[in-house]
Amino acid sequence: MHEDVAEILLDEETIQGKVRELGAQISRDYEDKRPILICILKGAVIFTADLMRSLTIPARLEFMAISSYGNRVRTSGVVQILKDLDMSIEGEHVLVVEDIIDSGLTLTYLVDNLRSRRPASLRTCVLLDKPARREVPFKPDYLGFVVPDRFVVGYGLDYAGLYRQLPYIGVLKPEIYQGSA
Ligand code: IMP
Ligand code: MG
Repeated sequence: MHEDVAEILLDEETIQGKVRELGAQISRDYEDKRPILICILKGAVIFTADLMRSLTIPARLEFMAISSYGNRVRTSGVVQILKDLDMSIEGEHVLVVEDIIDSGLTLTYLVDNLRSRRPASLRTCVLLDKPARREVPFKPDYLGFVVPDRFVVGYGLDYAGLYRQLPYIGVLKPEIYQGSA
């Protein structure tokens, strides 16, 4: 275990099992379709890469980057598109892939924004849900795990840009981010 991690919440095997389950479910639900997966940079990169490889249907891949917390552990509530899609999604089946839903502000903004581009359908697939901190109601269509109100890193999730490469999801030791929240 990494020395900055206090506790492993979800080990590699548990995550991989869930990703395969989600991939199978999505493959069934989109059986005769060719959805566009929108990976929300950067946190959802690892999840999207694994999820996509567990799909048995043809799928396309797009990226979007949304303003993040920077080096802080709480959201500012201000959402900004830093990198937009390369293509139109009008008439397409769109599946947004995100790492974690916390306050709900990011996904609420994103879904409203994408819906205005008139896709044929729009769903969300989120690896982690931290319902304790929700500020606006939001329920993902596909969900991996519910997690407690702790700051987690690994499997794409970062603190100050680090820890994304950990194959598990762990709780970051509070002393690592104390003073910057
Ligand atoms: P929301 O708008 O508060 O739902 O923010 C969701 C975003 O906050 C995610 O895409 C993450 O980038 C970030 N985030 C929220 N909680 C955590 C956490 O525990 N670890 C790492 N990033 C987090
Ligand atoms: Mg993120």
